[in-house]
Amino acid sequence: KTVETEEKSSDIVWHQASVSHIERVESNGHRPAVLWFTGLSGSGKSTLANAVDKMLHDIGCKTYLLDGDNVRHGLNGDLGFSDQDRIENIRRIGEVSKLFVDAGQLVSTAFISPFQADRELVRNQLKAGEFVEIFIDTPISICELRDPKGLYKKARAGEIKNFTGIDSAYELPVSAEIHIKTAEQSVEACAKQVIDYLKSYGYLK
Ligand code: PPS
Repeated sequence: KTVETEEKSSDIVWHQASVSHIERVESNGHRPAVLWFTGLSGSGKSTLANAVDKMLHDIGCKTYLLDGDNVRHGLNGDLGFSDQDRIENIRRIGEVSKLFVDAGQLVSTAFISPFQADRELVRNQLKAGEFVEIFIDTPISICELRDPKGLYKKARAGEIKNFTGIDSAYELPVSAEIHIKTAEQSVEACAKQVIDYLKSYGYLK
């Protein structure tokens, strides 16, 4: 840390907004949460997060969708795929997700988020029930067969290093609220599994 950044941080105070979190939540008419989709590349995270986001939007929820590929074009455009960069990627997404929850929204995030400790860090920064972890459990053999972007092929050929599931780890979720097997049911059925969870736990009115 430089002297300048230390001086800056001690001069910064928290500004209290006039519209409270509760008022934002009440005007939205549903409980806020991060719907945290995690899984291998090609597991179906983005497809499912997008389907869930659309279903929630269509029933009048305030929603937003944060997707790995898109966020890495802008906010996290300076990050690669080393362990350190993935940790920083998820830390920033966690901070952004917190802002959406503060705004009373249902934000769906689709990031591989391969490390348990990073997922737990985001969970622990939120209140109970505000972090819904959704494990997109698709075997790597199926992800590799799908290979929508041709990345597995490149990784097997050694053209991409640190590829998740090949030469970079994916730590299985240990406390996921929802466990989805995309190889065994349709996108609609998978998305409905998420909506049913949100209904039965009182997120939606
Ligand atoms: S992470 O691990 O959470 O930081 O990754 P994420 O931000 O979700 O980005 C994953 C997408 O980046 C592409 N890609 C790679 N994925 C994994 N490993 C390596 N080395 C890699 N290089 C590029 C890939 O398209 C991922 O998209 P999805 O949608 O997961 O297939």
